[in-house]
Amino acid sequence: MASPILNPGQAPEPLLYEQSVPGRVGYALPPLDVPASDPISLLPGVPLRDSVPLPEAGELQVVRHFVRMSHRNHAIDVGFYPLGSCTMKYNPQITEEVVRLPGIADCHPYQPEEQVQGEMALLHALERLLCEVGGMDFATLQPAAGAAGEFTGLLIIRAYHIHQGESRRDTVIVPDSSHGTNPATAARCGFKTVSIPSNERGRVDLAALRKVVNDRTAAIMLTNPNTLGLFEQEIREIAEIVHEAGGLLYMDGANMNAILGITRPGDMGFDVMHYNLHKTMSTPHGGGGPGCGPVAVKAFLEPYLPTPVVARDGDQYRWDHHRPQSIGKVHGFYGNFGIAARAYAYMRTQGGEGLRNVSEKAVLNANYLAAQLSDAFTFPHGTRCMHEFVLSADRQKANGVSALDVAKRLMDFGFYPPTIYFPLIVKECMMIEPTETETRETLDDFGAAMLQIAREAETEPEIPQAAPHYTPVGRLDETTAARNPVLAYNCCA
Ligand SMILES: Cc1ncc(COP(=O)(O)O)c(C=O)c1O
Repeated sequence: MASPILNPGQAPEPLLYEQSVPGRVGYALPPLDVPASDPISLLPGVPLRDSVPLPEAGELQVVRHFVRMSHRNHAIDVGFYPLGSCTMKYNPQITEEVVRLPGIADCHPYQPEEQVQGEMALLHALERLLCEVGGMDFATLQPAAGAAGEFTGLLIIRAYHIHQGESRRDTVIVPDSSHGTNPATAARCGFKTVSIPSNERGRVDLAALRKVVNDRTAAIMLTNPNTLGLFEQEIREIAEIVHEAGGLLYMDGANMNAILGITRPGDMGFDVMHYNLHKTMSTPHGGGGPGCGPVAVKAFLEPYLPTPVVARDGDQYRWDHHRPQSIGKVHGFYGNFGIAARAYAYMRTQGGEGLRNVSEKAVLNANYLAAQLSDAFTFPHGTRCMHEFVLSADRQKANGVSALDVAKRLMDFGFYPPTIYFPLIVKECMMIEPTETETRETLDDFGAAMLQIAREAETEPEIPQAAPHYTPVGRLDETTAARNPVLAYNCCA
């Protein structure tokens, strides 16, 4: 018996193999007007298959299948995506139009300098803009993502210390709230990492910092605002403590969208920083690449930047490869030009005032949402935040509803779940970042959903515990999925 389908996105979608009908094809070729050749004689000695088990389907069937599958993905273009730390904000269409301009889309990295002067001017201008918002002196656009920027930045720090005759500096300090990429990058660069605890206000504990800095300190890696969504108000003291010990300050600029046009890492005392263009300047998320995680440095570190750099002589641009102290290349050619071009278009579209407005709205939206949730959830560090906030579902957990359950239940309301269980220092934590691009109505809808789930946790905990209820696939056994993954469809079974 036929059953009505309310939402095509929820209907079961058979694989193309299961939809396959023998003899059905999605193409039409004219009859052969040359003699057919025998493949065996063309490829002597090569074992040939009699048949290839591909699905047999018509074009419309195939197109519908993939369009229906695409509806099962959640994306920022589909709905709210408050994934804290990951900053999923809207990527404007205008920047997509810009990168499709033939001068941008059709250029090739092997073209000689004189043919790509416009593209080089764009890269140079973007470096200058990024230095301006960061309070830095020089930049490279080569790194392919935030973590790649961290790696580049730490290689620069290491090269600097070696050049100073201080190769004993083998330790990088990271706060316990730091993003996992920070200690991972430090280890990848051959440094030891020392973790320092946050104080009860969720900021760097200065006493703990003083205890660990010494003549082995290469750098401290900080993000400001930090991953609890809190501004490190004592950043000047932190800079002084680390600099006095001969170490450098590395800023993880992933949270720059909270401070654009308001304050600058360079003015806070940072020596090196990376930008996550996909978070701050609305370019597509890299997932490790192709993205862009530019690194900017203070002037004394310029010699160590990756090679080549784009140099400007009057109104001419050239690649400067002669950089004897450079750490070398960190990406093929000059990085991911298309992403840089999008970021440039975004920054020029916003202008200085617009960028400041971005940060003010990001902070306002986060505080607006935090205030709505303040009675129903625990805020271990208060509800005043920067561009994101961390709450704890510990009261819900007391009724058997964990942060994971709350996150799963949010999917029933059409929202992408926030980041959960990071930072590690807050129990049952949820990290929510609404971003500046969402409307008040969307924030209210999300707030209402969170409050409803909090009520359910008290009265009907089995609802969030079994969520999601309205997605094409319900709750999966994540352990089995990880331990015993089924990676291939057995079409011949
Ligand atoms: C605070 C912070 N630092 C670094 C990164 C790493 O950036 P990417 O994912 O571009 O490598 C992230 C990514 O989410 C982040 O949130």
